Amino acid sequence: MTITFIGHGYVGLVTAAVFADLGNTVWVVGHTKEKIESLKKGIAPFYEPGLGELIQRNIKAERLVFTLDYEAAVGPSEIVFICVGTPSAADGQADLTSVFEAAKSIGKALVGYKVIVTKSTVPPGTNKKVSAIIEKEKPEGASFASASVPEFLREGSAIADTLHPDRVVIGTSSDRAEELLLQLHKPIDGKTVLCNVETAELIKYASNALLSTKISFANAIAFLSERVGADAEKVLDGVGLDKRIGRSFLSPGVGFGGSCFPKDVKALIAIAKEYGYDFHLLKAVDEINKQARKHLVEKIIHHFRGNMKGKKIAVLGLAFKPDTDDMREAPSIGIIEELVRCGATVVAFDPVAMKNAQKILPKSVVFAKDSYGAAEEADAVVVITEWNEFRQLDLVRLAKSLRSRVLFDGRNIYEPTAVKNLGFVYYGVGRM
Ligand SMILES: NC(=O)c1ccc[n+]([C@@H]2O[C@H](COP(=O)([O-])OP(=O)(O)OC[C@H]3O[C@@H](n4cnc5c(N)ncnc54)[C@H](O)[C@@H]3O)[C@@H](O)[C@H]2O)c1
Repeated sequence: MTITFIGHGYVGLVTAAVFADLGNTVWVVGHTKEKIESLKKGIAPFYEPGLGELIQRNIKAERLVFTLDYEAAVGPSEIVFICVGTPSAADGQADLTSVFEAAKSIGKALVGYKVIVTKSTVPPGTNKKVSAIIEKEKPEGASFASASVPEFLREGSAIADTLHPDRVVIGTSSDRAEELLLQLHKPIDGKTVLCNVETAELIKYASNALLSTKISFANAIAFLSERVGADAEKVLDGVGLDKRIGRSFLSPGVGFGGSCFPKDVKALIAIAKEYGYDFHLLKAVDEINKQARKHLVEKIIHHFRGNMKGKKIAVLGLAFKPDTDDMREAPSIGIIEELVRCGATVVAFDPVAMKNAQKILPKSVVFAKDSYGAAEEADAVVVITEWNEFRQLDLVRLAKSLRSRVLFDGRNIYEPTAVKNLGFVYYGVGRM
């Protein structure tokens, strides 16, 4: 099949590369000349394990083509996927400017019959607006059906997630579009959910909102565990063993970040409001998430008896999660800003996100070449992102570099007793 992806971010580029690798001819349309030129050379604009190789292989096989030209891409394609960003607007609603711009350009370039699919996360009702724009822009004789196929990939494991998703959701009222989309997704395993467009649109928000709820619930249990003297990890082990509940995403820590959960929780609150429903539960999820970051900073300040002036803090992990260089809404940003504001010096290390972090973090932050370098002469170590390489750090070596052995484990990746036995003062989340 010949297909087009509008947008070459985490979703557009990964999905395009995977479908090209499955034998399709895939066009990727961008709107920045510089990025398209670099993609043509096989350079991915962000870090995602295995992606560079996949792109290069499929460019070479002439199955993956990058362009700025909508007509060149849309013309030969049977299906066009809109994969542009839908960030939070100031009021929490999804900003659909890029989606509507893409729809306009697709409409102008339409010839023959196409299936236009929205893959970006958009509020229920957006596909109808997209269809109206295309209808208005398209030349006479051209026709289309619209569909919603929301994306569930996770950054850091995006290629495997695209090939082996838990489910493929196809929302459309057109039999022809459904048939074409089922045919395209044949090599992709995972259960198929067929539904109307609004259902598909809402499935995506409901999924991200529930995952965020699990994280905030775990953090609320952690806050309580600290007060009652319980071990939150053990509490959640006990809870998660119940098959109706499960343990995944019941992870106490510094809260969720990234380009999806925070914005999708806010957007679902705004969608509910628009339809006259006050989504109290999600407001609390958002609030607890903010508290989780604050809680760690308060612990650090409390340890230093309120005096952060001249304290050197080693921060390990900056990306919003491991295996990505994505800094969008990363908990590290607020935590570091607050430490700096209180007078601390921050020396940070992240395996891949330092280049992106440099553009966002306060100018005074110093970047180290590894964890041990960051810890040199530091008064405390703070782990914010649970990169694998931090799990098995040589803590004896780390301890030798430190001025004082204090470890704030913002992701509960260490065994408290083992760390304390090395002479560290250990602070986890929801455990002593
Ligand atoms: N990142 C994730 O893990 C993830 C997972 C599932 C769903 N989503 C959703 O998918 C959508 C895209 O997310 P992302 O992380 O890939 O975003 P991104 O910010 O990484 O990429 C967006 C892309 O759209 C391009 N773009 C914007 N306007 C354009 C236009 N008019 N024409 C052509 N290209 C245009 C940008 O240049 C960029 O390449 C969002 O709605 C997001 O919520 C993201």
